[in-house]
Amino acid sequence: MSIKRVLVFCLVLGVCWCGNLDFPPGFKFGAATSAYQIEGAWNASDKHLSVWDFDTQSDPKMVRDGNNGDTACDSYNLYKRDVEMAKELGLHFYRFSISWPRLMPASFPIRISEDGKRYYNDLIDELLKNNIEPIVTLYHWDLPQRLQNLGGWANPLIADWFADYARVAYSFYGDRVKTWITINEPIVICDVVYNTGLLAPRVQHEDGALICNKNVLLAHAKAWRVYDEEFKPKYHGKVSMANQMVWLEAASKEDEDIAILAREHSYGRYTHPVFSREGGWPAKLERAYADISKKQGYLRSKLPAFTKKEIEYIRGTYDFLALNHYTSRKVRKGSPGESATLFTGIYDFDIKFEVDESWKNGSTSWFYVYPEGIRKQINWLKQQYGDVEIFITENGYCDDGDMVDDNRVEYYKDYLKQVLLAIKEDKAKVIGYTAWSMMDNFEWIDGYQTKFGLYKVDFDDPERTRTPRKSAKFYADVIKHNSLDIPESQEL
Ligand SMILES: *[C@@H]1O[C@H](CO)[C@@H](O)[C@H](O)[C@H]1NC(C)=O
Ligand SMILES: *[C@@H]1O[C@H](CO)[C@@H](O)[C@H](O)[C@H]1NC(C)=O
Repeated sequence: MSIKRVLVFCLVLGVCWCGNLDFPPGFKFGAATSAYQIEGAWNASDKHLSVWDFDTQSDPKMVRDGNNGDTACDSYNLYKRDVEMAKELGLHFYRFSISWPRLMPASFPIRISEDGKRYYNDLIDELLKNNIEPIVTLYHWDLPQRLQNLGGWANPLIADWFADYARVAYSFYGDRVKTWITINEPIVICDVVYNTGLLAPRVQHEDGALICNKNVLLAHAKAWRVYDEEFKPKYHGKVSMANQMVWLEAASKEDEDIAILAREHSYGRYTHPVFSREGGWPAKLERAYADISKKQGYLRSKLPAFTKKEIEYIRGTYDFLALNHYTSRKVRKGSPGESATLFTGIYDFDIKFEVDESWKNGSTSWFYVYPEGIRKQINWLKQQYGDVEIFITENGYCDDGDMVDDNRVEYYKDYLKQVLLAIKEDKAKVIGYTAWSMMDNFEWIDGYQTKFGLYKVDFDDPERTRTPRKSAKFYADVIKHNSLDIPESQEL
């Protein structure tokens, strides 16, 4: 590395750090997508409806541009092109999700869709043929509408339903899929859905998030145990749950306590029961909820208690820790009644979220760029849960769709640099990194306006043509060199 480059890096980092910019040997790079966001083919053969099919079709106004995922990137038909893109990028793995109502139209294992089963077999085989490891998410928000009609994530029976579905997927694909994510971002499934009512299944209910929270943990634990007991002995794979974490730090010295509570509320509720040594809810948060529930007139805590047996059942149900991270917030004590909303809707505590003036925004409302946040997040996890293997299962940047997407390149460069610092300086065991997303896709209630893709997808073209952006070339170079120090001649 030339002196000039060292200086440039020092400027970017704000401190002088002259270690090399290579990732550890064997570090895994990949990219991700999810079923509803890319597959389309919403009514192919015997596929049943998910909550996203049902809601976007019955009320197009729920999505910013009035669109839905009926066709999306048409990956149901174009999966070979998807694998080709993964190959062009040089990905070590591709993370995608299985659509529960596509694989099991009745949502219970009484009926399997042969076409659904074949689609995922074909995708997995095509990846393996190209030396790309399939990493599979079982649940990325597309609950069968039939199960929503029975209460969805608010019904405790969902732990059994989900574990039955997981068993079917493991039994079909476990011979070739060695890394599984049970549930993607439970905080969205529970907090965002029930607190805002904006995302499918659009049930707004002030008591929903915490009930869902407990059920989602039991569902994850059950699915993990099914793998552990019935499949791990022959397939030797790994299973975890992917949590979305917005790095939260105190706005000032006086706000340190409230920042701790905010972190326990935003991540501890989903990670402490699984990853901590003692299991169960974070103690401080559990006490805070007991107090506030009493004050509000509830006869028991709104944060549903775990039995001793449940604590033991959930505790330790991981083989690694999966982290989705995009953005950060400053946290301060609000005046009474003033609450954070964002993802977590901390309605019960007077906590306010803010962004620093220096943080640049992306093209969607919640997105602000603070690269140091990912390093701090990783360190928080290490400090809380010890030397667990951390797999970054999502990270990426949204814009309006520039082909020369310098902001995205800069985002990846700066965030990856912080990941490197976490590995090299803080000795965190980060084993892999996943770019979100391999291509533009249906970005939930933002529709097709918000772009996260390394590849542009032309949604006006019936062929859904995919074209690499500048960031695709950059990411491919990083992977090829296993380093952020890319030879000049190859830099764009
Ligand atoms: C599937 O839905 C599309 C509209 O998205 C419609 O044109 C097509 O006829 C439907 N196919 C079947 C088999 O119902
Ligand atoms: C940041 O927000 C402003 C104001 O909403 C917007 O004009 C701008 O395009 C956003 N930046 C990016 C990179 O999208």
